[in-house]
Amino acid sequence: MNKLRISQRVSQVIHSPIRKFLPLVLKAEAKGIEVLKINVGDPDIEPSPKFWQALKKFPPQNLGYAPSPGIAEHTRAWQKYYTHFGLKLKPENIIPTVGCAEAMLFSLLVTTDPGDEIIVFEPLYSSYKGFAAVCNIKLVPITLRVDSGFALPNEQTIAKKITSRTKAIVVVNPNNPTGTILTSREITRLINLAVKHHLFIITDETYREIIFKGRPGSLLQITRARQQMILVDSASKRFSCPGARIGCLVSYNPAIMAAALKLAMVRLSAPTLEQYGLIPLLNNPRAFTRTITREYKKRRGAVIKGLRQIPGVTCYQPQGAFYLIAKLPVKNTEDFITFLLTSFQDKKQTILVTPAEDFYITEGLGRNEIRIAYVLDTKKLTRAMILLKKGLAEYQTRRQSS
Ligand SMILES: Cc1ncc(COP(=O)(O)O)c(C=O)c1O
Repeated sequence: MNKLRISQRVSQVIHSPIRKFLPLVLKAEAKGIEVLKINVGDPDIEPSPKFWQALKKFPPQNLGYAPSPGIAEHTRAWQKYYTHFGLKLKPENIIPTVGCAEAMLFSLLVTTDPGDEIIVFEPLYSSYKGFAAVCNIKLVPITLRVDSGFALPNEQTIAKKITSRTKAIVVVNPNNPTGTILTSREITRLINLAVKHHLFIITDETYREIIFKGRPGSLLQITRARQQMILVDSASKRFSCPGARIGCLVSYNPAIMAAALKLAMVRLSAPTLEQYGLIPLLNNPRAFTRTITREYKKRRGAVIKGLRQIPGVTCYQPQGAFYLIAKLPVKNTEDFITFLLTSFQDKKQTILVTPAEDFYITEGLGRNEIRIAYVLDTKKLTRAMILLKKGLAEYQTRRQSS
């Protein structure tokens, strides 16, 4: 039996920082404590009724696999969706995937071989770390700081990280976990580097429409480096249906699409029913995405207002998505979160946030930071910030006296 060994590649995958406190949450809940969960990007907003109506239209029949390149009507709906952002795509430029997560994995597999390197900006959406470990590739981080609004460094600083093994740059825009949006100067910088060093750009635009100022767009609108770009996208957040597990991979480069299609065939298909369910939403996205963006803006306001009232907390006001990173006056936020779940309650309530350390690749960074996902209504978020304030005060008092 002890000759059976789990692979190295999976041993290197970290436990999701977002889900690792679940056992403590269950214990707290068993004691009758309500845990306000602002740790996971799993919104409380229901998808449009059009999604359910489209599902109901599906006749009771054999529920077969969808074609690997997507159900034609669904892929056409993505094609139509992208016209809102000035993108003219052909069906062969789009492959529906099992969420953006699968598109991310495909994009890494298509652009790298084991031992290759990818430039990323930390803090970074943690699934990239997991997939990189599985693909046996090295993520080379460029550290961004909360105090400087997570601004990208200049071209030379980024260029220093490029080696003969570098294959791609990953950008997440709008960003999870920082809530930042790339400025046009930053985008130009990245495109210049990609063109000069012959790198792919993997652009994750899961949160495209959830921005609080300006108009949503796509890096693919920039024609100069189009052939180098892979867009990985998702229906999960903009249509508030992460359980539908629908995303897509998009590229104007036929070689990329041919390679991605091979992978799509290996995994057979994206979910059949949900591809049908999403057609009306993709055909007519704006009403829903505008409504939820207004709601997230209100929620951002509630969180920022609450955080400003907590001594010693610094944060960057997010411009998009529904996350923010806050620096707390503690040494180790993992310890603080454990305290919140095991030794703290106020009127039988506590909160769960995510420690930011695992969003970093560089050892030791982010230990005094948390990520907040504002996925509850404003009333609950206001209460959550009060709980954070009270929890911090109690934690600090206990630490001082111990
Ligand atoms: C930046 C980013 N990319 C991809 C994903 C995964 O999306 P999906 O649910 O479509 O797999 C998430 C989910 O939180 C995300 O934040």
